[in-house]
Amino acid sequence: MKIAMVASEAAPFVKTGGLGDVMQALPAELAKIKGNEVCLFLPYYKKIKQNPTIEVEYVGSFSMELSWRESYVGIFRLKSRKKKLQVYFIDNDYYFGARGSVYGDFDDGERFAYYSKAVMAALYYLDFKPDILHCHDWQAAMTLIYCRALYGQWCPYTKTVFTIHNVEYQGWADASFFGNTLGLPEEYLGHLTFDGAINMMKGAIEVADIVTTVSKTYADELRYPYYAHRLDGVLRETWLWGITNGIDTTVFDPETDPALKTNYSAKKMEGKWDNKLELRKELGLRTDTDAPILAMVTRLAGHKGIDLLCYIANRLMEREIQLVVVGTGEKQYEYALSSLAKQHPGRVSVQLAFDPALASRVYAGADMYLMPSKSEPCGLSQLIAMHYGTVPIVACTGGLRDTVPPYNGETGEGRGFTFQSYNADDFLGAIDRAVGLYYNDREQWNALAKRDMEIDFSWRVPAAEYMQLYTELRNK
Ligand code: GLC
Repeated sequence: MKIAMVASEAAPFVKTGGLGDVMQALPAELAKIKGNEVCLFLPYYKKIKQNPTIEVEYVGSFSMELSWRESYVGIFRLKSRKKKLQVYFIDNDYYFGARGSVYGDFDDGERFAYYSKAVMAALYYLDFKPDILHCHDWQAAMTLIYCRALYGQWCPYTKTVFTIHNVEYQGWADASFFGNTLGLPEEYLGHLTFDGAINMMKGAIEVADIVTTVSKTYADELRYPYYAHRLDGVLRETWLWGITNGIDTTVFDPETDPALKTNYSAKKMEGKWDNKLELRKELGLRTDTDAPILAMVTRLAGHKGIDLLCYIANRLMEREIQLVVVGTGEKQYEYALSSLAKQHPGRVSVQLAFDPALASRVYAGADMYLMPSKSEPCGLSQLIAMHYGTVPIVACTGGLRDTVPPYNGETGEGRGFTFQSYNADDFLGAIDRAVGLYYNDREQWNALAKRDMEIDFSWRVPAAEYMQLYTELRNK
């Protein structure tokens, strides 16, 4: 099957969040399946262009209209021996190549409309007629609309898939954007119009052959206003598939992770305790105690539940525990957490940094991983934590609910500790249950951590689910 993947980020080239991890692993996993030919598109951002380790070759260029604008489109291809997976970069200095930013510019709507249209033009130029055109989040949403609107004759059999990784960002624009920038036939105006403005995610939801999201629970939640950021009405009318993400177990593997001094596995868990000691030394935490280390590696943003942590912080410190937080984000949280660390030297360490190697050492050295998110489409950190033998304590929402069934002391089933409503006391209650098991029954605790390590979180299963979906679509 010929599959074209379109997104605004993919590790290791460019990554700001979980989407980048998914776009690194999913295309690669699909390319391993016999008979598949996959190409992945990305904007040629300045940071990719200037990265000397990313070797590319020039494929071609042409000029393209975006409404009344005439723009240059360059196509570059990653030099690679993997013939079944080609990575293409869309080059344009005005929109991408000469700017330091990935997102957040005043003209993001126009930048990504340009990108989406250019991807279709590039597919045509390359004569790659995809069976499946799979677009991710609003930045790539317009690609499938341009496919339908302008390339129907060239690729009449192409089926389109749109995946929502986070409904919060939808690509809103002024009503004039339709005529002024998008330059589409009038019949698409209705699909793209929402509350008197343009909403690119809504357009893709309505035009795509299939809409998916990154967990089953999130697919249900998206039908409610609390989660859907105004798109609940549209999403109630749409058949939504939930496919839970995996993690790249070749990148996140405690047995081979180069950031760790001591590598370990479920069979040799002792290595994990060396990592705990090393982490304490690295972060200046006391080593003369048996306290569990509770950790968070996260963007310090409201919806990640940092407010719950701040609210219970003083009571939490009455317990015999140590706390590690790594991340950057909103100033009020950076300030509150840094003050907490100052008040409790040797017990709390807060690192205001985005540091993947340190993150690895935290996943390896901690005992418990906190993820009290208000909403979480899928979440990857809880999967990485479990894979490193760190037991998750999570809010029962979205992908957290699907991947962390609650631990049951009677039967020994379950993977972690959960709380139902977004409430700080309930969060503390879940922490207390975890800390209780840790102190009262270490054998059970260690068995739980070991079982978590043994779960298969690789992309093999989700990739097979996507293949099934693609196949059904193609045969329709
Ligand atoms: C977004 C979501 C996160 C998900 C990721 C990859 O970042 O917020 O929950 O894991 O996309 O799908």
